[in-house]
Amino acid sequence: MNEKAEQKKESSVDLQTTDLELLFKPRAVAVLGASKNPDKLGHVIVDNIRTGGYRGGIFPINPSADRILGLRAYPSVEDVEEDIDVAVIVLPQKIIMDAVHQCGRKGIRFLIVITSGFGEVGNLAAERELVSTASSYGMRILGPNIFGIYSSAVDLNATFGPAEIRSGTVTMITQSGALGVALMGKTVVEKLGLSGVVSIGNKADISEVDLLEYMATDDATGAILVYLEGTKEGKELLRVMSSVVPEKPVVMIKAGRSEKGARAAASHTGSLAGSDLVFDSAMRQSGVLRAGDVDEAFDWLRALSTQPLPGGEKVLIITNGGGVGVMATDAAEQYGLQLVDDLAWLDRTFSPLVPPFGSTKNPIDLTGQAKEDDNIRVLETALTEDAVHGMVFIQCEMATTEPDSLSEKIIRTMEKHPGKPATFALIGGEKMERCIDNLHEAGIPAYGYPEAAVSALAALYRWWRFGREEKGRIEPLNIDFTAIREVLEHARRLHRQQLTETEAKRVFEILGIRVPRSIAVRGLEDCLRAADDIGYPVVLKIISPDIVHKTEASGIKTDLQNTDEVARAYKSIMAGARRKFPRAVIHGISVNQMIRGGIETIIGASTDPSFGPVVMFGLGGIYVEVLKDITFRVSPVSRKEARKMVEEIDSFPLLLGARGEKVKDIDAITDVLFRIGVLVDVIREIAELDINPLVVMERGKGSWALDARIRLHAQGK
Ligand code: COA
Repeated sequence: MNEKAEQKKESSVDLQTTDLELLFKPRAVAVLGASKNPDKLGHVIVDNIRTGGYRGGIFPINPSADRILGLRAYPSVEDVEEDIDVAVIVLPQKIIMDAVHQCGRKGIRFLIVITSGFGEVGNLAAERELVSTASSYGMRILGPNIFGIYSSAVDLNATFGPAEIRSGTVTMITQSGALGVALMGKTVVEKLGLSGVVSIGNKADISEVDLLEYMATDDATGAILVYLEGTKEGKELLRVMSSVVPEKPVVMIKAGRSEKGARAAASHTGSLAGSDLVFDSAMRQSGVLRAGDVDEAFDWLRALSTQPLPGGEKVLIITNGGGVGVMATDAAEQYGLQLVDDLAWLDRTFSPLVPPFGSTKNPIDLTGQAKEDDNIRVLETALTEDAVHGMVFIQCEMATTEPDSLSEKIIRTMEKHPGKPATFALIGGEKMERCIDNLHEAGIPAYGYPEAAVSALAALYRWWRFGREEKGRIEPLNIDFTAIREVLEHARRLHRQQLTETEAKRVFEILGIRVPRSIAVRGLEDCLRAADDIGYPVVLKIISPDIVHKTEASGIKTDLQNTDEVARAYKSIMAGARRKFPRAVIHGISVNQMIRGGIETIIGASTDPSFGPVVMFGLGGIYVEVLKDITFRVSPVSRKEARKMVEEIDSFPLLLGARGEKVKDIDAITDVLFRIGVLVDVIREIAELDINPLVVMERGKGSWALDARIRLHAQGK
């Protein structure tokens, strides 16, 4: 290896291990493209760095200015004597490369490239050149096409966003520039403190995955907000989230929920690949809290970034209004909060504090006649009683409400008894707005409606539960994958991507999934013999690689009780197939054991462009097709995770034996999901797979894969 190559290898190794700390805590910053002209971004950025109170050295770089915004300017970074860690580049795309070389020679570690005109407009060659040049000097790039970075650790506002930033503990990573700038402004109005803002733009080098890894260990970051429009690194994102989420709560806003969600209308798994449903499930799998919109994200972050974790599940609602108490109770059920329900204890503890016409049956309703101090006393009692782990405190505005006094008392009480999470809903007009504002100022999560207060506390609880629950592991499976590969190879040799049902069932059999006994036959005589052998009643099915939807093609006859019925069915299937699919290759007919009873479910797998193989579960028929009541996971899934999938669908009660039915064999479903997850993870040739239906019998009696389809990727994929 020559010297240059050796050097390059060293620098790329260095790159892998470069910590992002200097990007967030640079000792000095240069701005290339700094300008005296207040209309230029290079001016705004220098101004923001300066007025933001950055504690390190600021070096504006401009070939024709001596001073910019009162700071000494330099013609080139190489003219600066001090060490510089970060360079913000605000130069036109066409002239950027010279500056990059200068930064490299100067020993700068990170480039924040604001400049547009790279990959986002198809100029990939320029983007590649930018990254490779920077990396040849051991520099890493944030961007290009970004609005900059803010880091509270050193009070660095190297963005062209708002000059005013409220420092706090939320770090925001955003793919959208405009929205990111807008959100920075909104955090100030909302009094939500930021520890960092990073715009990732084209993600040519540093990606959200790198940043999240850093944020997990960053002391200044208490909670993370991520805005994504899409990710090509789904699997990697999942991996990093699994290690970040136990450290810090992550709230995700991702665009594209509705349009992609609509694609889920189709019933078979393949059409759902790349859909928003997959993204949603993957985020749930890794404990990320996905918010529906910006307001919800802010609401959650307010609680997540300020409140301690609960010590248990039991939540108390305290209110001065019956109606809002009911609204909060409904919301608690919807968002999965458990309420303190020991009525005797509630009565014993709170009746001395509640007026006789109020209620102690959680919600504790003090009614509108109670005084401010009465409500506060109940809050204080809840904060100190071991049986209460979390609180939602709701106040409706009364004629006597005194906002400053109410907020002051809440703040004092919370400060006096730290250690339990609480959220506050203050409902009313200007007075309550003022009260909310005061609480925000003090870092207490307050909202204008009970649902928002409950939803925020529930988000905190979801994160807490995720951190505590035991994570399942993928147990080793003793499966003959070589035998499965042989089945697939056979189809490949015949230039087929779609396996026949017989082949697919063979795969499932090897995988340890129970399929009904089945014999493939070619003539009527054999068919009758096979039916005798299997035992009546039987099911006949056409075997043809060209007829995928057998029911629609009348290629299936069920519940055949005797020789006559089998003979009639045989002839009708054959005649029907020849009439409807004259060109179809027909391999014969399969005679199958008839399975009675049970409940129909669907298990599928497909390949998501970002997350790779995913598995799906739902109940059959209208539950999948009309109600879209399905759930996904990125494969493989542990049995524990598979169980969560099953419990997650809305129609889960049907598996528990609704309307007098017996409980179904849920372990059998999780076993199949687990095995399918392992299969598609190990054998990447499988593009799509459906067991439709998987009939699940009552508890202890297992399941049957009645119909199976497997499609392989096109050769060479
Ligand atoms: N080193 C340092 N400064 C240099 C220079 C060099 N080699 N060459 C020129 N300059 C100076 C210019 O003279 C100018 O200063 P001046 O006002 O004193 O003349 C300054 O750098 C800026 O250059 P200019 O040509 O005026 O660029 P611009 O400000 O019009 O545009 C960008 C630069 C980066 C803002 C623009 O190319 C761009 O990409 N805009 C989009 C940014 C964006 O939206 N990003 C994504 C947000 S999410």
